[in-house]
Amino acid sequence: MPITAVIFDLDGVIVSTDEFHYQGWQRLADEEGIPFDRHVNERLRGVSRMESLEIILERATRTYTAAQREAMATRKNGYYRELLASRLTAADILPGVDNFLAELRRCGVKTAIGSSSRNSPTILRMIGFDQTFDATADGNDITRSKPDPEVFLLAASRLGVPPMSCLVVEDAEAGVTAALAAGMRVLAVGSAAGDSRAQYRADSLAAISAATVLT
Ligand code: BG6
Ligand code: MG
Repeated sequence: MPITAVIFDLDGVIVSTDEFHYQGWQRLADEEGIPFDRHVNERLRGVSRMESLEIILERATRTYTAAQREAMATRKNGYYRELLASRLTAADILPGVDNFLAELRRCGVKTAIGSSSRNSPTILRMIGFDQTFDATADGNDITRSKPDPEVFLLAASRLGVPPMSCLVVEDAEAGVTAALAAGMRVLAVGSAAGDSRAQYRADSLAAISAATVLT
């Protein structure tokens, strides 16, 4: 079955906002006195805001009510959005993205975003990518975040393409699991580049040509 559509994760695949997510969580964890580091941060890739908080709270020494958890997630999102507003520009688009997209377009392949992030529309606007993709599906559209396949199945349906004709580009273990559960093929990049479950692997989109994944 040839690939007729490519669905991209956003954070850590299209744009380096994954670093701002990390800094936002680190600030919150420091304020609360909860141990947190880049190793724990790897587990947050691809999962929703509230699920990320639950992972961080595994190391907390006190308990938090549902209302306090909600407030903490909102606080982190405020820190994250401050970083986006002050630091995010088109220069944060990751290496190889523009060329890879142009190559797909030349081959007549459709493109979409499949992201767990509720900030996805804002980020796409800020980097000038709000008209770039044929469809988008994000955290605002779904009830179950990765590793559930919902966001990728929604993106495929918005493109009008069957899942088995889609390739997903992911930097998260949860995202690779989600794509495979959707019956899609996977190109794992960045932090997920060592994931042996993916059919294709590359350090970044600059290190692989679209032709490689379309044949
Ligand atoms: C994913 C990130 O893209 O979005 C996760 O990899 C993040 O780290 C998730 O938790 C939700 O993002 P947001 O912007 O809705 O808090
Ligand atoms: Mg990601």
